[in-house]
Amino acid sequence: MSLSNRLIIFDTTLRDGEQSPGASMTREEKLRIAKQLERLKVDVIEAGFAAASQGDFESIKAIASHVRESTICSLSRANDRDIARAAEALAPAERKRIHTFIATSPLHMQMKLRMEPEQVLEQARLAVRYARNHTDDIEFSPEDGSRSEEDFLCRVLEGVIAEGATTINFPDTVGYAVPEMFGATIKRLRERIPNSDKAVWSVHCHNDLGLAVANSLAGVMIGGARQIECTINGLGERAGNTALEEVVMALRTRQAYYNLTVGIDTSQIVAASKMVSQITGFAVQPNKAVVGANAFAHASGIHQDGILKARETYEIMRAEDVGWTANKIVLGKLSGRNAFKQRLQELGIEMDSEAEVNAAFGRFKELADRKSEIFDEDIMALVADEQVAQDNEYYRFVSLAQRSETGETPTAKVVFSMDGKEYSCDGQGDGPVDAMVNAIESQAKSGAELVLFSINAISTGTQSQGEVTMRLSHAGRIVNGVGADPDIVVASAKAYLSGLNKLHSKTERVNPQAAQG
Ligand code: KIV
Ligand code: ZN
Repeated sequence: MSLSNRLIIFDTTLRDGEQSPGASMTREEKLRIAKQLERLKVDVIEAGFAAASQGDFESIKAIASHVRESTICSLSRANDRDIARAAEALAPAERKRIHTFIATSPLHMQMKLRMEPEQVLEQARLAVRYARNHTDDIEFSPEDGSRSEEDFLCRVLEGVIAEGATTINFPDTVGYAVPEMFGATIKRLRERIPNSDKAVWSVHCHNDLGLAVANSLAGVMIGGARQIECTINGLGERAGNTALEEVVMALRTRQAYYNLTVGIDTSQIVAASKMVSQITGFAVQPNKAVVGANAFAHASGIHQDGILKARETYEIMRAEDVGWTANKIVLGKLSGRNAFKQRLQELGIEMDSEAEVNAAFGRFKELADRKSEIFDEDIMALVADEQVAQDNEYYRFVSLAQRSETGETPTAKVVFSMDGKEYSCDGQGDGPVDAMVNAIESQAKSGAELVLFSINAISTGTQSQGEVTMRLSHAGRIVNGVGADPDIVVASAKAYLSGLNKLHSKTERVNPQAAQG
C-alpha cells in the first residue's frame, strides 16, 4: 500500500485529556467541545472511555448522536465487556471506531496486568476479533509500546491486523521516546510485519520530556505513520499529549518540507483552545506556541519595528490563520436579546432551549451593568458559568462582601446556598481569598484541600473579568473549579463553590490505564 500524503488528525482531548487530574467534564461540556472539534474538522474524535462510568457512556452517546462530520471513537480495554459498552455508546454515530488496547511492555505485563506475554497476545487478538462484530473501523494500541520488546510487538501487531485491526496506534505512553529512535522503531515494525500495509499507522505521544510534537512528526516522517493523536492545548495525562495546534501548524507552516496535508480548519484553533481551557480550568501559559496570549505579541521595540516594515521578519504564521482576532467590544449594556442571541450563534454556541438563552441573557445583563464593554471572551465565560449552574446546583454563590486594608486582617462575608438553603457566613484570613474560603468552610466543612490557585484576565485591560481556577483535592479525588467575575474575590468564591459542587457529585470513574479490565 503506497503511503497517502493526507494525515488523519485524531483528537483525544475528551479521553486522554480528561484523564489529567481535575480535567473531568460534564456531558454538556463534552458535547460543546465535540461540536467545536467538528468545526475544527478533526477526522476522529475520541469521545471517551465508555466503560469508565454511566456519565462517560452517556457523553459518548450524546456526541455520537449530535456530531456528524467526524468519526466518533470510544476507548475500551481488551475485553468483551468494555468493547460491548463502547459499541452501545457509539451506536447512533454515522461513522464509529472502537479503540482497544492492552499493555505490551515487560514492566506493564508483569507489574500491572500480571499476565504472561502469550496471554496478552491471545487477549489482544480476541479483543479485536470481538470488536469486529460491531464495526469495521478498529484501532489497536500496544500500551507502553515504546518500552516494549520489538519481537513481541511484531507478533502482537501482526496478530491483531490479521484479526481485522485497521489502525495500529503506537503509543509512547510515558513520554520516554526520542524522535529519531521513535521514528526508526515504527519504520522497522512496518518493515518486519508482513501484513503491516493492511493498517494505517498512528502515533500517540506523551510530553514528559517535552518531545511529544517532535516524536509525532518523526513517527510520520521516518516511521511512515499517517495518523497523529493529539489534544487541544496538549492536555493529557501528566505533562500532556501532542498539542493539536502545534503539530498542525508545524505541518502547515513547513508544508514544503513535510509535503503532507491535513483537513483541519485552522481558523477554529484559538476558539477551541479557549473553550477547552475555560471548561477544564487548565489555563494556557502566555508563551505557549500558537495559542498562548504572547504567541503573536511583539513586545520588544526591535521586533515591532521589523513587523511594521515586513510581517515576515519576525512572524512565521499569521495570527488570523489560527483564529486570533483583535479583542472586539461586541455588546454593551443597551444590547438586546436578539443581538445577544446572534452573537452566541456567531460564536458557535448552541443553546438547547429558549429558556437557556433567557437565563444566559439575564446573566449577560447583570454583567453589562457592572462592565461597560463586553468581549467575546466574556460571553464564552458567561455561558460556561451558566452551564455549571445548571449541572451542579448543590452549592450556589449568592453574594460577597470583603474588606482588606494594609495592616488589618482581611475579612469576608459570603452568602451562598447549600442544597437550596441560604447561609450567610463570616471569615477572616491571611488575605481576602483566604478569608472568603474560611467563610464558606465555616458552614460547608468540606475537608477539601486547595492544591492550585490561578487567576487570569479573560480579555485585556483592568476592566477585564478575572477567571479563577481552584483545584481541590479530597479523599483521593481532584477537581478543578472555575469561576469568572470582574471582582477577582467573587471569581474565586465562584471557583471554590464550583469545585465543591464537582466533589459533591461523587462521580466514580475508572481510569482505563490504571485498572485492569
Ligand atoms: O498513552 C497511552 O498509551 C494511551 C493508550 C490508551 C493509547 O493513552
Ligand atoms: Zn495516552
